[in-house]
Amino acid sequence: MRLAEVERPVPGDGEVLVRVRAVSLNLSDWETLVGRPAYARIGGPFRPRDAILGSDIAGVVEAVGPGVTRLRPGDEVFGDNLEKKGGFAEYAVAREKALSVKPAGLSFVDAAALPQSGVIALQGTRGVEEGQSVLVNGAAGGAGSLAVQLARRAGAEVTGVDRGDKLAFAREMGAHHVLDYTTADFTRAGARYDLVLDLVASRGVLALRRALAPDGRYYAVGGPVPTLLGVLFLGPLTGRRIRVLAVRQNETDLLEIAGRYGDGTLNPVVERTYPLEETPVALRHLGDGDARGKVVITVDAG
Ligand SMILES: NC(=O)c1ccc[n+]([C@@H]2O[C@H](COP(=O)([O-])OP(=O)(O)OC[C@H]3O[C@@H](n4cnc5c(N)ncnc54)[C@H](OP(=O)(O)O)[C@@H]3O)[C@@H](O)[C@H]2O)c1
Repeated sequence: MRLAEVERPVPGDGEVLVRVRAVSLNLSDWETLVGRPAYARIGGPFRPRDAILGSDIAGVVEAVGPGVTRLRPGDEVFGDNLEKKGGFAEYAVAREKALSVKPAGLSFVDAAALPQSGVIALQGTRGVEEGQSVLVNGAAGGAGSLAVQLARRAGAEVTGVDRGDKLAFAREMGAHHVLDYTTADFTRAGARYDLVLDLVASRGVLALRRALAPDGRYYAVGGPVPTLLGVLFLGPLTGRRIRVLAVRQNETDLLEIAGRYGDGTLNPVVERTYPLEETPVALRHLGDGDARGKVVITVDAG
């Protein structure tokens, strides 16, 4: 990665130019950068299709292209710009439909932290009921730290699985129980869960079946392609609800998670911020697995 002066992008039909104020890192940025898991090479087998990565942006509308009806210059917006990316920059172009108006009480940093992780967490924990037993695999990461909180707020008994040095953070987020994945296998711990939300899909379907209550659900969100394919094709044969969760970004869910975060119902998940020039250091921090919750880049377009 390198820092360079490039032309300011121009919004096309239905697109908006955003002056970026903050952009959060997602594991998907790191996966696209290093080309692993294999799905990260879709659209760019040998190098990332987009030279500038960064999808979870928050900023101010600078200009709008033809056909934009909802947003106008000066609006404060946020959203997951996964389709066009370009967020590790002073200006980024996004489709109007990828952006929502930022709630006034939410800072740009918090707004940038939420789109991808927040919507994964919301859709992944939807339907959790009081008294249920929920396990979040990858509990100290971006999506996991929000999912733990949502499940706990829904009244579930929550187990968080992550690397040992991050388990205190998973507890801070609300996990009643924690497991270190480097020394323990949650599918062999003897417990049966009503929901397993798996951000890192580390186990095969037979092992997963063991860890589910008879009516339990398992959702794989990310992880190695062979494991995800196993879940996709073999999951339905297990007699349990074991499947891949295809997360759909949408404004209703984004505003719901932003509302709950903004009114203090959820604990802060932003671990630290870095200036734009330090984006490579920030990505390395995430890629090395040292981040807890969300890491956000702040941008001062001068
Ligand atoms: N399904 C969809 O529609 C969809 C949409 C968008 C994104 N995604 C995917 O969703 C995932 C979201 O991840 P995120 O942003 O929350 O990642 P993250 O912030 O990097 O968190 C992942 C956490 O899992 C931990 N971990 C790694 N291996 C583990 C294992 N075997 N068992 C338990 N924990 C483990 C990591 O710790 P260490 O690194 O220290 O091991 C890290 O703390 C990404 O894979 C992304 O590609 C899916």
